[in-house]
Amino acid sequence: VTELLKNEEEIKEFLKIEVDFLHPRQKLFSKAKVAEVKRMRPSHYKKGATNRDNKKQISSEELMREDMRIVNEFKTKLSNPKYIKMVQGRQQLPAWILKNDILNSILQSQVVVISGETGCGKSTQVPQFIIDDWITNYKNKHLEIVCTQPRRISAIGVAERVAEERVERIGSTVGYQIRLESKISSSTRLTFCTTGILLRRLESDPTLPNVTHIIVDEVHERSEESDFLLLILKELLPIRPDLKVILMSATLNANLFSTYFGKIPIVSIPGRTFPVEQYFLEDILEETGYVLEDGSEYCRKIRNDSDYIEAVMASHDVGEPKPKDNIKDENLSVQQIVARYDGFSLKTCKNLFLMDPEKINNDLIESVLLWVVNGNHNYPRQGSILVFLPGIGEITSLFDQLVVHEEFGRRRGKYVILPLHSSLTSEEQSAIFRKPKPGQRKIVLSTNLAETSVTIDDCVFVVDTGKMKEKHFDSNRNMESLDTVWVTQANALQRKGRAGRVMPGVGIHLYTRHRFKHHFLNQPVPEILRIPLEQLILNIKVLPSFEGRDIFSVLSSFIEQPNVESITSAIKRLQSAGAIDKNEILTALGHHLAALPVDVRIGKLILYGAIFGCVDAALTMAACLSNKSPFVSPFEKRDEANKKKLSFSAGYSDQITVLMAYKKFLAVNQKSATGARNFANENYLSYKTLLTIADIKYQFLEYLVNIGFIPVDLNGVRRRMGQDIVEELTGSAFNVNGGNLRLLSSIICAALYPNIVKVLTPSKTFIQSSAGAVPKENDAKDIKFATPNELVFLHPSSVNYKVTNYPSPYMVYQEKVRTSRVFFRDCTMIPIIPLVLFSGDSEIMVQNGNTFLSLEDGWILFQVEEHKISSLNWVFYFL
Ligand code: CDP
Repeated sequence: VTELLKNEEEIKEFLKIEVDFLHPRQKLFSKAKVAEVKRMRPSHYKKGATNRDNKKQISSEELMREDMRIVNEFKTKLSNPKYIKMVQGRQQLPAWILKNDILNSILQSQVVVISGETGCGKSTQVPQFIIDDWITNYKNKHLEIVCTQPRRISAIGVAERVAEERVERIGSTVGYQIRLESKISSSTRLTFCTTGILLRRLESDPTLPNVTHIIVDEVHERSEESDFLLLILKELLPIRPDLKVILMSATLNANLFSTYFGKIPIVSIPGRTFPVEQYFLEDILEETGYVLEDGSEYCRKIRNDSDYIEAVMASHDVGEPKPKDNIKDENLSVQQIVARYDGFSLKTCKNLFLMDPEKINNDLIESVLLWVVNGNHNYPRQGSILVFLPGIGEITSLFDQLVVHEEFGRRRGKYVILPLHSSLTSEEQSAIFRKPKPGQRKIVLSTNLAETSVTIDDCVFVVDTGKMKEKHFDSNRNMESLDTVWVTQANALQRKGRAGRVMPGVGIHLYTRHRFKHHFLNQPVPEILRIPLEQLILNIKVLPSFEGRDIFSVLSSFIEQPNVESITSAIKRLQSAGAIDKNEILTALGHHLAALPVDVRIGKLILYGAIFGCVDAALTMAACLSNKSPFVSPFEKRDEANKKKLSFSAGYSDQITVLMAYKKFLAVNQKSATGARNFANENYLSYKTLLTIADIKYQFLEYLVNIGFIPVDLNGVRRRMGQDIVEELTGSAFNVNGGNLRLLSSIICAALYPNIVKVLTPSKTFIQSSAGAVPKENDAKDIKFATPNELVFLHPSSVNYKVTNYPSPYMVYQEKVRTSRVFFRDCTMIPIIPLVLFSGDSEIMVQNGNTFLSLEDGWILFQVEEHKISSLNWVFYFL
């Protein structure tokens, strides 16, 4: 503190940041304001659902009149030929047969589980059974059904389908509500919404007095949000004895949910699937004749002698192969295999059954597809082909390869190739369900969305690459990360099953039978047991029904409880981020972070970006933080790659350096896409990652718009995938400080705190900036943590690695990795003042036109005149 007060001039200099408070909602940082807004919020929910633009209350008389109108309209619909045809279609679905059983169970029990194969008609039919029953036996009672879906795309897709089946416009009796978009009106009685939307609604309307039925779809997915919703509903049931809750699950685990709610009835819809023949990698290489670089030969051998090798390998834990695994622990049994298959090295044998394409191998998929359509087999040469891939990146890359292929390409017109992932527009999504032209076959490239959420009706072949994306806790970065992982046995079986909907089908898995049997988990681990809990804790804190409740006791009531350490460490991380205080009470900042469905560090970065007029830059850095840096460093070209990276170096910061590279890329990309590709290649930047950054930035912008921090209207905005329009949309006022590197490093500090290190040696370098203390080239600098006293080293890939005179001894870092020693990487040098101002225990509030930055034991006041920081009168009140 004393040190700080000596530096008045520096503080003044630093505070020369022009901040425009452009939008009144930004003033929400005041606790009083937050409370006020919470009180004001959605009265429109109170009386039935109404359009977003029509939030005024409607009287119960009006509601009744609407109900009567719906009932009467339905009577005329019964003779509508289009509707009759739709009903005939619906009657073919397995769920239809159990219509009465389902309605009876709902009548008799407050909570019911409905389980059945994907595609049997749960999502589209069960809500309609309830509406039709209500209409036909109308007794002057109001009905409002809310059906939650795990993803936006399913909420829109199912709502549109149900409206179509009822021959109605979407937004009439059937509607949907997702972030930033809703199609509902005062006559909507069935709303499909994302789980997040219902959780938000519970914040202001904890008992949902007007809702009569809540249907939670896809509960088997065990997302953190849906597990949380189940807990809330469980507690709500005794308070709302008239509320009906219906849980819908694929065939997995229905018992678990029944037990959780106290042995409630399960209605199982019988399956109607055809047998599916299963192929594994070793089989398919044989069939297609595809030569896998190193693996075809022994895959063939596995096939011929699989039982023997299986037995030997299964008796040993061979473990996952590591890239540079020099095997020292030779064991006898593996040697036996070597003896039997001489010619293969021990390493090869170790990897024998694990020998799979580690990365997605597009050429292999292509040959499998060729085999499917033209190969020598007796399977049908009709029906859709469904390929499971981990994510959008892999889908795009295979799509690009297939559309120019001589067999599959657009020119031949024999196939329609369709991507299927969660960021599709609704038109793209409806293409999935459209029947192809006669003579054409559909090839759908999908994430695990097609596993249980979306059904391709005429699918006969499934190609399963065995990979999916999953959220995890990344202990190196102390935050959430989205990783590509092997699927589980349950996923693989579900994927295979998708092929047998209309006739016997074929499931082709691009991994060995051995991996499937011995290395795949049985079931996916529920999200709540593998992700950091910060976001969940914030969401619990904002719900009035959990006010004052101990976080441990709330979390122990979940269907499966996270362990104590992960709860404790999440609470600590939230405290150092300033989202909750010492007493675990939500701060004003915490309120806003709770409304952002991202990691708290990312949330802070984007919020501060919006407040401090550098939103575009903040969103770029946040996108890299949540995804990965676009810089690549091929092992053999590391030095050259590092040199290129250094050429963009700015602000003593790896994050700002990436920002600079990204900006240059955008400038080139505006002129020519080919030029941009070349620019990326020349500078060791991943073109794909750069485009992904643009997509993530847009998503973050949507979040900020949604909570009212950026007043732009995104409705009707058209953008291509990979196109960056954030700066254009947000305008100069929100980016006025985008070039202020000190400010950018300060908000990085705010986001990454408490990941702080202090330079320990060479000490003179930062104290006196003396040239004499220059470290030798390639000497790793010893950097010591401020707390705890652990010695860590700066990773040589950092732009700060060769810096010889640090203007400040402090750095914030993104990631800590342990290899030969503990390295920290991706760091930003932080001057002392911003470190104090922007480190974790601070909270920004706006009150009476003044901006306060509260520190743990003091306040800093920025004086704001007419929404602008005009003079830099600053005050420290240290207690
Ligand atoms: O929920 P569940 O998986 O049991 O099935 P569903 O989603 O209700 O699907 C029942 C049928 O409706 C399937 O044949 C789907 O292909 C079809 N459907 C559709 O054509 N369009 C949609 N947007 C959703 C479902």
